[in-house]
Amino acid sequence: MTSVLFVCLGNICRSPLAEGVFRHLVEQAEKSKEYIIDSCGTGGWHVGEPPHRESRAVARRNGVSLEGQTARQLDREDFKRFDLIVAMDRQNRRDIERLMPKGSSCRVVCLREFDPEIVELDVPDPYYGGPDGFEEVYRIVERSCEALLDSLVLEKEAER
Ligand code: 4NP
Repeated sequence: MTSVLFVCLGNICRSPLAEGVFRHLVEQAEKSKEYIIDSCGTGGWHVGEPPHRESRAVARRNGVSLEGQTARQLDREDFKRFDLIVAMDRQNRRDIERLMPKGSSCRVVCLREFDPEIVELDVPDPYYGGPDGFEEVYRIVERSCEALLDSLVLEKEAER
């Protein structure tokens, strides 16, 4: 079992999309039994809210469901529950690493380390922009999550 936690700031725009897209890819690959997938935010302002309307809309247009997701905040237990924490930007990664207990075996990465078309490490925050921003985020998240899953599958094969 591999457990993967996607983290952004508010857990309403970017990380719910990453959670939904990654789960969709895992289901398509018929590997649902092998992965625990979740998302959260480093900030607590939107706890309990569903994903942003534009995140739900762009996901739906692409056949991905964000149903059942509600925003929650990162907590110390997450460092025990998850093998891999995937930050949406470098500030998220710094905030995550600051909360990480000493000696934790959790691996923290930025999602765009896996982006085959990488131009920068941060997934741009679409919260203050228009719908185009969500479309762009979707494309980044989709191709990065595909490469992330490929990489995890290869790692698992190498361990066998
Ligand atoms: P997210 O976007 O981190 O992709 O969910 C944001 C959502 C809310 C806020 C900032 C970013 N906010 O400041 O409330």
